[in-house]
Amino acid sequence: MSAGAVIIRSATADDIESLEAIEIGCFTTTDPTVAQAAPGEVATAVRRGEVLVATIDREIVGFVQASARSPGHHFVDDIAVIESARDHGIGRQLVGAVLTQVGESCLVACTIAPSNTASLILFSRLGFVITAFLPDYYGPGKDRLWLERSPRPG
Ligand SMILES: CC(C)(COP(=O)(O)OP(=O)(O)OC[C@H]1O[C@@H](n2cnc3c(N)ncnc32)[C@H](O)[C@@H]1OP(=O)(O)O)[C@@H](O)C(=O)NCCC(=O)NCCS
Repeated sequence: MSAGAVIIRSATADDIESLEAIEIGCFTTTDPTVAQAAPGEVATAVRRGEVLVATIDREIVGFVQASARSPGHHFVDDIAVIESARDHGIGRQLVGAVLTQVGESCLVACTIAPSNTASLILFSRLGFVITAFLPDYYGPGKDRLWLERSPRPG
């Protein structure tokens, strides 16, 4: 991985092609631990302002998509870091940026496959806890865990 500084910024329309390539590279439809976004989902999310990207030397190395579900309740829909940049704290910075954006008073949730160790560790380090097991959430055999980071007392 390049030694340049990691910059987290909002995604723009110019990023959509790179983001879709990362999505395809990181999420395969045959792997039950991950669920690929539906076609056009990333582009729609970018236009809605729901996507942050991590760049190094202007190259996008990861992104996170998060959206408001109701007042005071946010959901992390998608996160991916390119393979060559993993385990360098970029996922943590991306989710951390979402938490900073939404503030301490917001409940933030996500779903993770029980076998997705990297993702489970990432979110648990940031204060998320497993609150439910969702069998067959994405179809037969595609179970998910529901994780939440509770609002912090103000
Ligand atoms: C999950 C993912 C986004 C993590 O991104 P990352 O940039 O590698 O994560 P970080 O480097 O910030 O790691 C955060 C923590 O998880 C740990 N971790 C990361 N990958 C790990 C792995 N494969 N095994 C064990 N621990 C791991 C790190 O050591 C770190 O722990 P620490 O804070 O104690 O040092 C990345 O692995 C990825 O894109 N995976 C494919 C897509 C995916 O599964 N997305 C999630 C769907 S819910």
